[in-house]
Amino acid sequence: MKNSRPQNVILVGAQWGDEGKGKIIDLLARKSDYIVRYQGGNNAGHTVCFGNEKVILHLIPSGILHPKKICVIGNGVVIDLEALFQEIKMLSEHSISIQGRLFASDRAHIIFPYHRLIDQLREDAKGAKKIGTTKKGIGPCYADKVNRLGIRLIDLMNPRVFRERLKTVLAEKNLMLKRIFNHPPFSFDELFQTYSEYRNRIAPFVRNTSLLLDEAARKRKRILFEGAQGTLLDVDYGTYPYVTSSNASAGGALAGTGMSPARINEVIGVVKAYTTRVGEGPFPTEFPPRLMEHIRKRGEEYGATTGRPRRCGWFDALVARHSVLVNGLSKIVVMKLDVLDQLPALKICTAYRYQGKRYDDFPSDIEVLEKAEPVYEEHPGWQTPTSGIRKWQDLPPNARKYLKRLAALLKAPISIVSVGSERLQTIYIDGRYR
Ligand code: GDP
Ligand code: IMO
Ligand code: MG
Repeated sequence: MKNSRPQNVILVGAQWGDEGKGKIIDLLARKSDYIVRYQGGNNAGHTVCFGNEKVILHLIPSGILHPKKICVIGNGVVIDLEALFQEIKMLSEHSISIQGRLFASDRAHIIFPYHRLIDQLREDAKGAKKIGTTKKGIGPCYADKVNRLGIRLIDLMNPRVFRERLKTVLAEKNLMLKRIFNHPPFSFDELFQTYSEYRNRIAPFVRNTSLLLDEAARKRKRILFEGAQGTLLDVDYGTYPYVTSSNASAGGALAGTGMSPARINEVIGVVKAYTTRVGEGPFPTEFPPRLMEHIRKRGEEYGATTGRPRRCGWFDALVARHSVLVNGLSKIVVMKLDVLDQLPALKICTAYRYQGKRYDDFPSDIEVLEKAEPVYEEHPGWQTPTSGIRKWQDLPPNARKYLKRLAALLKAPISIVSVGSERLQTIYIDGRYR
């Protein structure tokens, strides 16, 4: 029987975000019909490089670069309308048309300027204890959603409902701004006016997207779910409280779109061949300064959204295995192998030690994570350039050994290896994804 490509696929980050999801979504999008974002917002930064061009997508699914593909922003995403309009403009400057193929869920919540401000004021007030958020208003918007103080796209579409909702919500926000942050209030009239203008601009994109996706699934269209952030930033499974405010893991794709779990055929996890994280929070395998500088420079490890330098470290098998477990990953994609090309030796973390105890599984106690000593195994490097390699057999033997060891530790097969940011710099181990 011919092995065909799975129909509906969820792709998630299996570390702390920035694994290279954008590049892989762009590649898998070629054979997909619908590409769907299900959580997060413009805190994400997904990079796609093609020819001499580089596009960073924050809100719009990374499949948009392929003409005719339908892109959906699901109900689980929080939408900053100003950021969305800017992104549409950026795409038109690259001659990419979104006409008739970009839709946003009518149930998605809107990020308002007060969410951004509160995110910033809270972070500033926390000083050394800050989370290191992107200050895009993500946390405050999700908090309002759960607190039943949010405003959805569909609420904006109805001027009477919008007026009522904004009045109630803004009264509370302004009181909070005054009492807690001693900050001047937002003007209801100005916000109402601005968003009434946005209503007309967003209206053509607003749909009941769960109906749209259900119809697509019935027609046997291929749907690709694009995770943002990563499993270790997931509000439930990440290094809480140093996480984002949504379910970045596979479960988020269901709640965040209305898709039935029965329709999902595969969950793919993306890892870097090492580890990075932006913002604060525990990172057991973080490099010492010299190695940090080397990898940050070679891997160009600067945030695609905030430009902040990313923290870098060795591959942590506990982190990735935790992701395999909570997402049910059946395939692994390994990115940025080329960044390790010059190292004489590599380490993989296989356990943690803390207060005489050994941890083989990723712990949830923040104190253990902050203070644990990684247990490493060491592997010889390959010290040969890999960015020009396109076949598994052509990889240096030590690179193949390293990758095989990762697959064995994760108990999941590697289907793609990436050796550069360009589309062509890709080694397909599982031919179904080519
Ligand atoms: P995402 O958030 O998971 O989509 O990842 P980002 O776009 O934030 O960060 C990944 C970065 O690595 C981007 O600058 C990509 O262009 C780059 N990149 C992706 N794959 C590779 C690779 O295999 N090798 C190298 N050197 N860079 C890569
Ligand atoms: P992509 O999709 C890496 C991090 C922030 C911070 C924490 C909370 O490009 O992989 P938030 O603004 O979400 O409240 O910040 O989450 N963070 C990311 N780190 N990649 C991302 O997205 C991220 N989105 C948020 O740095 O530590
Ligand atoms: Mg990113």
